[in-house]
Amino acid sequence: MGFRKPRNSVLGVELAGEVTAIGKEVKQFKLGDQVYAINGLSFGAHAQYICLSEEDPVALKPLNATYEEAAAIPFGGTTALYFLRKGNIKRGMNVLIYGASGAVGTAAVQLAKYFGAEVTGLCSTTNVEFAKSLGAEHVIDYMKEDFTKTSQRYDLILDAVGKVSKGQCRHLLAPNGTYVTVEGQGIARVTAKDLLLLKELMEAGEMQAVIDRRYALEQIQEAYRYVETGRKREMS
Ligand SMILES: NC(=O)c1ccc[n+]([C@@H]2O[C@H](COP(=O)([O-])OP(=O)(O)OC[C@H]3O[C@@H](n4cnc5c(N)ncnc54)[C@H](OP(=O)(O)O)[C@@H]3O)[C@@H](O)[C@H]2O)c1
Repeated sequence: MGFRKPRNSVLGVELAGEVTAIGKEVKQFKLGDQVYAINGLSFGAHAQYICLSEEDPVALKPLNATYEEAAAIPFGGTTALYFLRKGNIKRGMNVLIYGASGAVGTAAVQLAKYFGAEVTGLCSTTNVEFAKSLGAEHVIDYMKEDFTKTSQRYDLILDAVGKVSKGQCRHLLAPNGTYVTVEGQGIARVTAKDLLLLKELMEAGEMQAVIDRRYALEQIQEAYRYVETGRKREMS
């Protein structure tokens, strides 16, 4: 984004690393702390160094996570948290995660379980077992089954990939049921508290990072091309 040229030429919205320098008034972090963060539309996370304020969404990384695992959590994790809360997720709810195998979807399945919901995930054939392994009690394979024909009713439907409209699934909502989507309902607001919750859940084994492929920084164009296929977890 930018009028004559990109305002920020370094992309990247999520990161993990070590604190190597610190401002005089910083209280929450010290040199050597291992942190993870999400820098949202400020970008800059693909560089080797980044300057953050302690007011930003930055927190100590989960103790049991490598830097790679920690960096794979904030984008999907905080987005899923924001939209599940927007849908007033509560214990005992019957929840459908539309697109259960992407960055937002995999986090949404795990977080909905943490909130005590009964979870149905929707994904393609290749990812059915994977969605179950994340905790989904039921999985709809959209390549074999038309989910709009189910007799199930959901208290909350989260469209985690921006591919299904409220109109398409209105009849699947229970009375007072809610539909939320990652596309067209604003940008997820994120705080350091959200990262601390995700850290706790990872340390408690209730949340895992999902890493599909790894690329060196020199291969970043290839990495972006892969992400832009819209299918980070490949179909066979
Ligand atoms: N509003 C916000 O603040 C916010 C924040 C973050 C992300 N987002 C949006 O969230 C969306 C998802 O982001 P992401 O990073 O999670 O994406 P992603 O990881 O690239 O999602 C890829 C997954 O989407 C699934 N998929 C693709 N087409 C599908 C379809 N027609 N129906 C169902 N599932 C389908 C694929 O799984 P299968 O092969 O199993 O179908 C694939 O695993 C993006 O549109 C992004 O812009 C919004």
